[in-house]
Amino acid sequence: MIKDIKEILFDEETIKAKIVELANLISEDYKGKNLVIVGVLKGSVIFAAELIKNIKVPCEIDFMAVSSYGNSTETSGVVRILKDLDHGIEGKDILIVEDIVDSGITLNYLGKYLQGRGAKSINIVTLLNKSARRKTDVDVKYQGFDVPDEFIVGYGIDYAEKYRNLPFIGILKPEVYEK
Ligand code: IMP
Ligand code: MG
Repeated sequence: MIKDIKEILFDEETIKAKIVELANLISEDYKGKNLVIVGVLKGSVIFAAELIKNIKVPCEIDFMAVSSYGNSTETSGVVRILKDLDHGIEGKDILIVEDIVDSGITLNYLGKYLQGRGAKSINIVTLLNKSARRKTDVDVKYQGFDVPDEFIVGYGIDYAEKYRNLPFIGILKPEVYEK
C-alpha cells in the first residue's frame, strides 16, 4: 500500500495535534448550544472519532452517507443520500464533519438539505481543504489543512475504498488511478 504513495503530507502526530486544536475551538464556540455532530460517511470516521474524543461540551452524534463519486477520482456533480440521519435536528446546532472539501458540491447540497430539516445553525469542520478546486460556494468554518490539487488518501480517505487505514495523509501516485 505504502508503495502507492507519492508523498506523505501529514504524519499521525501532526494530524492529531491539529485535531486537538480544532476540538478546542469547537468546544469554546459550542458552549451552551445543542451540538449535533454529523459525520459524513465513510471518509470522515477516523477524523470524527478523534475530534469527538477531544470535544469538551455535551453533544449528540449522527451520521449521513452521501455519494457523488462512484469509484472515479472526479465528482459526478450529483449528490445522492445513501443514509439519512437517525434523529430529527429541529432547533439543533449542527456541525458537519467532512474528510475533504473539493468542488464543494457535496457540502453545498448537505448544508441546504439540513437547513431544510429545521436546523438552528449549521457549520462545517473539514480535515482537509482543496480550496484551489472549489466550484461552488461553501463556508468552511473550521479546517485542518489546505492540500494541493492532487489525489489524497489515508486517515479515512480512500481511493476506490482502499487506503483508508493508512495512519497518515499522503498523495496517491497518479499511475494507481490512471491505469
Ligand atoms: P466535493 O463534493 O467535490 O467537495 O467532494 C467531496 C468528497 O469527495 C469528499 O468528501 C471526499 O469523499 C471526496 N474527495 C474529494 N477529493 C478527494 C481526494 O483527493 N481523495 C479522496 N477523496 C476525495
Ligand atoms: Mg466524503
